[in-house]
Amino acid sequence: MSRRVPAELSDCAEKLIRGRHATRAFRPEPVPEDTMRRIFSLAGAAPSNSNTQPWQVEVVSGAARQRLAGALRTAHAKRRTSVELPYSEGMYAQAHRARRAAFGAELYGALGIGPDDHTARAAYDAESLRFYGAPHAAFLFVHGDGEARLAADAGAYLQTLLLAMTAYGVDSCPQGLLSFYAGTVRTELGVTGGKLLVGISFGYADETAPVNRVRAGRAPLASTTAFHE
Ligand SMILES: Cc1cc2nc3c(=O)[nH]c(=O)nc-3n(C[C@H](O)[C@H](O)[C@H](O)COP(=O)(O)O)c2cc1C
Repeated sequence: MSRRVPAELSDCAEKLIRGRHATRAFRPEPVPEDTMRRIFSLAGAAPSNSNTQPWQVEVVSGAARQRLAGALRTAHAKRRTSVELPYSEGMYAQAHRARRAAFGAELYGALGIGPDDHTARAAYDAESLRFYGAPHAAFLFVHGDGEARLAADAGAYLQTLLLAMTAYGVDSCPQGLLSFYAGTVRTELGVTGGKLLVGISFGYADETAPVNRVRAGRAPLASTTAFHE
């Protein structure tokens, strides 16, 4: 027997989940501290294996954010990257690589950057290391040894955080790219433990920026989900 679900809850979930989009141009106004505390407190309600909550979150704002953006710019110019959870271009299957290519074409198309314009793409990467102009960034570190298993916990936290931000009217962009500069993030913030999985830039969207009009489509349900009886 199915349980009755209040219509307003499913309506809210549809709006909340479908209303979240990656934002890649922000206005400079900061998020009030009280709102930030509510958001990160709500994100902490994420599920995790045996309630281990194996994450540590470092949030930067103000002068700390400025210093870190400067250090990331220097690290990018000197090609000083360091990654703690390995990434490889070939780690996705063919079908997933095709989705990545389609998304890349759409994003760079919206930015007016051609497929072979490596200089413009590198300049855009540099801009993304300024958190796309966002006044805040959060860094998600995972603690423990079972990397792939921990990613499930951290992924649950990440999506809960992004939805909590959406619920409080705060826009965001998860940025795997920031994890390629783990050493710089650690040095600037004095973080010693865990492994850096992802950074999240957040603040309020610049609604006039064309890049914020990009809407990534999704694979049809039948291509990702099977129902067995
Ligand atoms: C783990 C993870 C890493 C990501 N890394 C980046 C990144 O480095 N730069 C970026 O602009 N967007 C990044 N994104 C955002 C994705 O491109 C975006 O979520 C996806 O294209 C779907 O679009 P939507 O979030 O607007 O629905 C990342 C998202 C996730 C979940």
